[in-house]
Amino acid sequence: MVAAMASAQAEHDVAGGADFGFRRVDEHEKPGLVRDLFDRVAGRYDLMNDLMSGGVHRLWKREMVAWLAPRPGMAVLDVAGGTGDIARRVLSAMEGEGRVIVCDASERMVGAGRERTWNAGLLGGIDWVVGDAEALPLPARSVDACTIGFGIRNLTRIERALEEARRVLRPGGRFLCLEFSSRPPAGAERLYEAYSFSVIPWLGAAVTGQRDAYAYLVESIRRFPPPERLAAMMEDAGFGGVRLRPLSAGIATLHSGWRI
Ligand SMILES: C[S@@+](CC[C@H](N)C(=O)[O-])C[C@H]1O[C@@H](n2cnc3c(N)ncnc32)[C@H](O)[C@@H]1O
Repeated sequence: MVAAMASAQAEHDVAGGADFGFRRVDEHEKPGLVRDLFDRVAGRYDLMNDLMSGGVHRLWKREMVAWLAPRPGMAVLDVAGGTGDIARRVLSAMEGEGRVIVCDASERMVGAGRERTWNAGLLGGIDWVVGDAEALPLPARSVDACTIGFGIRNLTRIERALEEARRVLRPGGRFLCLEFSSRPPAGAERLYEAYSFSVIPWLGAAVTGQRDAYAYLVESIRRFPPPERLAAMMEDAGFGGVRLRPLSAGIATLHSGWRI
């Protein structure tokens, strides 16, 4: 009992610690752990998204791009854009006329995205950058919109990433965030828990051989702040007109805000 308490205390005491799923790690260690995890699953990331969500992630991304309603000629940054699923949707909503930049920390996710985009015959419209959401490699006031889908909960300092998103947006520019909600859907808690903690890691192991990566995915959802808290963080970072839109009984949430 005492040993367990001491070990819990030791975990809590990690200097400047950060959550990595249910583990507490040094905050300097977290970005490398996250990058390594996405590097490992990059080749099968898109397939796993479809299998885990039964394709529903596509509807959520469609909803996100519909709410953004990008116009031809806009410059849009997709942070933590991974294999470019959101970027390709944005480019197609702009009828191929505009500039979309994907910025992601994982070289392999970006590599898989470039290949997928090349195969879809769209490579010209998307710029790919390996970079950190917490220190975006873009000038201030350089984009009209900034999106982040299922990326924000992987970051070490969410506040810093929100400030960065605001910095690169032009005044009047829009920020949209799509993320899972930390609370299970009301009335389906037990089913959702069983699916999350048993089926997803099992599926991850079967499809990618990386059970731990998919256990992390589920744990990181639980550790993420609730939607109202993220909305408050956006306001603290200087976004105005912040609004929320729950998706699929609140399994995921869209957050929207404007650089004012
Ligand atoms: C769950 S994936 C989401 C990918 C894509 N947005 C989508 O919806 O399919 C999370 C992505 O965040 C990226 N990521 C994690 N930490 C990051 C950081 N600090 N800066 C930029 N990207 C990061 C990962 O490499 C990964 O590609």
